[in-house]
Amino acid sequence: KKIHVVLSGGSGSRLWPLSKKSRTKQYIPIFDGKSLFEMTIENNKNLCDQVIVVGNIDNYELSLQILGKKEATPFEIIVEALPKNTAAAITFAALTAQEEDLLLITPSDHVIENKEAYQNAVECAFELAENDCIVTFGIKPNKAETGYGYIQSNGEDVIAFHEKPSKEKALQFLTDENYLWNSGIFCFRSKIFLEELRKYRPDILAACIHVMQLKQSDFLDAAASQQIPSESIDYAIMEKSKKIKIVRGLFQWSDLGSFEALYDYFSVKGGVYVKESNLIIAETAHVELHGIEDMMVIQSGDAILILPIQRSQEVKKIYERLAIEN
Ligand code: GDD
Ligand code: MG
Repeated sequence: KKIHVVLSGGSGSRLWPLSKKSRTKQYIPIFDGKSLFEMTIENNKNLCDQVIVVGNIDNYELSLQILGKKEATPFEIIVEALPKNTAAAITFAALTAQEEDLLLITPSDHVIENKEAYQNAVECAFELAENDCIVTFGIKPNKAETGYGYIQSNGEDVIAFHEKPSKEKALQFLTDENYLWNSGIFCFRSKIFLEELRKYRPDILAACIHVMQLKQSDFLDAAASQQIPSESIDYAIMEKSKKIKIVRGLFQWSDLGSFEALYDYFSVKGGVYVKESNLIIAETAHVELHGIEDMMVIQSGDAILILPIQRSQEVKKIYERLAIEN
């Protein structure tokens, strides 16, 4: 069986006030009325037989609503009590699946364009995964992004992983065609992932098995979850395993991690959010700007955020300063 595993964590800080704890980035319906979560489910629907979402209590209802209306594909939601990063989240899904099942792990907060190229890459990955490889999808970089991981490759083989490099290194990687962005999409047989985890991080595996034993309906136990080491799959497995193969994704891929990224995306795509050089996303208010350039105005509920677009990375700081509860 082929299972689409959707990772749906996240704190909602960088796109506040559109995103918040109760509705993180992947659930904001600003893509022709759809959210990134919904688009992720749709993109993989014809490629897999089942969906497992690993999320948290704040997004449980939102995930249920979206999966509920997508008929046909059977789904399951695992609700983490605490965010323990991607190694643990993926382990919960692997422990839920059958040993021989093939898992396609995807984030829930990325845009993928060119669906055909994506489907081809996934089919290629399933073939490698059937042969017991751990597959990661590499994307050709088009800027010196420091927020991603880079895979140093030699054809299908991995030479090294470089997670979130310095600007200097990222610039150097950009000029070398053997360096690819790690897209955060992975594919492997459940059994193989668990074997590799047992080899490299038996502590994470043991803690996750214990938590799964205490699982009640969709919910994981909070006290036991505290014992899980917090680690990303990149550090836990990808940097260590000898079974990794790379599939080059020729699809367009972006992590809309800031308002500036949203602005770039909608500038190319067109639509209602870009007005001259300004980004305006307002849920209920009518916003008019006059004689103002390169600004973003974001309104949601009773909150309005206004700042220069180039400073959109600072939204996270603003969010933290406000210590917002919901
Ligand atoms: N369920 C669950 N629980 N999901 C989680 C958790 C968690 O504790 N932590 C993160 N996730 C989900 C996020 O929602 C996201 O969809 C995905 O896992 C990746 O986590 P991020 O926190 O967004 O990772 P990152 O952006 O810093 O880095 C990763 O992704 C980059 C691509 O966007 C790395 O894999 C990089 O190497 C990669 O380039
Ligand atoms: Mg991310």
